[in-house]
Amino acid sequence: MEAKEAEAELQGQADIWKYMLGFADSMAVKCAVELRIADIINMNGGPMTLSQIIAGIPDAHSPDISYLTRIMRLLVRRKIFTTQSHHHPSEGGDTLYGLTHSSRWLLHDSKMTLAPMLLMEDHPLLMAPWHCFSQCVKEGGIAFKKAHGREVWDFGSVNPEFNKLFNDGMACTANIVVNTIVSEYKDGFGSVGSLVDVGGGTGSVLAEIVKSYPHIKGINFDLPHVVATAPIYDGITHIGGDMFEAVPNADAVFMKVAKKGLNSSGRKYWKKEAFLATISSKFQLYHPLLRHTQSDMVMM
Ligand SMILES: C[S@@+](CC[C@H](N)C(=O)[O-])C[C@H]1O[C@@H](n2cnc3c(N)ncnc32)[C@H](O)[C@@H]1O
Repeated sequence: MEAKEAEAELQGQADIWKYMLGFADSMAVKCAVELRIADIINMNGGPMTLSQIIAGIPDAHSPDISYLTRIMRLLVRRKIFTTQSHHHPSEGGDTLYGLTHSSRWLLHDSKMTLAPMLLMEDHPLLMAPWHCFSQCVKEGGIAFKKAHGREVWDFGSVNPEFNKLFNDGMACTANIVVNTIVSEYKDGFGSVGSLVDVGGGTGSVLAEIVKSYPHIKGINFDLPHVVATAPIYDGITHIGGDMFEAVPNADAVFMKVAKKGLNSSGRKYWKKEAFLATISSKFQLYHPLLRHTQSDMVMM
């Protein structure tokens, strides 16, 4: 019994060490994304040695291979990269590092990538709110606002770096889901003449929909500082504004909803029915989150 208790205590300590340093995995993956390691291996067309990888890192003026070795060792343990060697290392054979199904999601030069989202989520500006949890428990409020003095949607208007980081992150996840949206809802899109994406970011989802259904007049609606940076897309008009005041008229509205209660400050919240009442949607698509609502909106 005593031995069991001692073992449990030791395990408890090990768990705390693990949680204490839990951020190390995120930072190592972020490092790989910043150094474009997955892209370097992908461009090579197969596994590479560390010397080859380090030679491909852009702007590495005095590279430290021992540092990279330790980062890669961790990432191999986490199955982000693979290792293989033609000869046993004791015979002087170099280890070759290859891609896995995980690292393929870290490619910058790919449409199906999570790299921009990862750079966003693990950026110090987005990490800062995580340090405010105890303050939130003690005082209530929103962690992002405590960290930056503004709500997340306002912050981009005064911080162009954050604006780009956030919009790029959103656009990459949008790219991942858009194929499913387009193929799943093809009958619905066929009967819509105009479609407004409310909170559409820089318009990448709508652009893909309109590419597949060129008869649709697309309106990408988001906050002014977001649409100001949006690329020009054929068949898309970008309109800046505040959805809590009004949204552009269209046959159907499309809105990607992250979570119910996203804006839980009490000051503003998602009043779907209030602004959708003015829009005549011609078809209905329901996201599981909204199964209980009566609003005839297109949800994703
Ligand atoms: C979670 S992001 C989703 C972006 C995009 N729909 C996507 O799926 O990638 C939410 C978007 O809503 C926009 N937004 C937030 N408050 C808004 C408001 N009051 N009026 C218009 N857009 C708003 C943000 O700027 C942001 O682009």
